[in-house]
Amino acid sequence: MTDHLTIVSHPLVQHKLTLMRKKETPTAVFRQLLREISQLLAYEVTHDLATSQETIETPLMDMQAPVLAGPKLALISILRAGNGLLDGMLELIPSARVGFVGLYRDHETLKPVQYYFKVPDQLNKRFCIVVDPMLATGYSSAAAIDLIKEAGAKDICFLCLLAAPEGVAQMKEAHPDVPIVTASLDERLNELGYILPGLGDAGDRMFGTK
Ligand code: URA
Repeated sequence: MTDHLTIVSHPLVQHKLTLMRKKETPTAVFRQLLREISQLLAYEVTHDLATSQETIETPLMDMQAPVLAGPKLALISILRAGNGLLDGMLELIPSARVGFVGLYRDHETLKPVQYYFKVPDQLNKRFCIVVDPMLATGYSSAAAIDLIKEAGAKDICFLCLLAAPEGVAQMKEAHPDVPIVTASLDERLNELGYILPGLGDAGDRMFGTK
């Protein structure tokens, strides 16, 4: 663990991740595990949210009790696999605003090209959690963060399930101010850009496509 990279080593996270990695895990179970793990990761990433005191009445007496104070949250999903992390996180943080960034890789230039971008207003006043299960090369994640910074975001964190060392290095170079939270730092990328040992194509596994 460094300041830039946090690996969530909680046994529940690690156990669920192992189940997700297994090639025989069916789509429905994979999706359910992703939902559960996303909530545990969301718990970790929101650890330092500020609270303020509010006077409330319990059935027995008044008390000063903590409630979330700003900044308000924005969850930004990198399409399409990011949506698998988003659903579970929204159950835990239902008032969060949500944005979507769609990028594809141009076959000739190999650069990420934007095809969709819709984010909440006042990103400069929000804590923005960018979600994508797989930090592989890091190019699309870094490009997505370029776009949300252009839209005003300043306080940003990147949340993923698995990270490759190559992706972490790319993100650190492009966005040293954006901490990464992940359940695992895997070994490396293969020649097709898949994370090894990884879990395969996260989008295909969660949506049952090939
Ligand atoms: N995207 C995936 O879905 N899986 C990988 O291993 C790398 C990128």
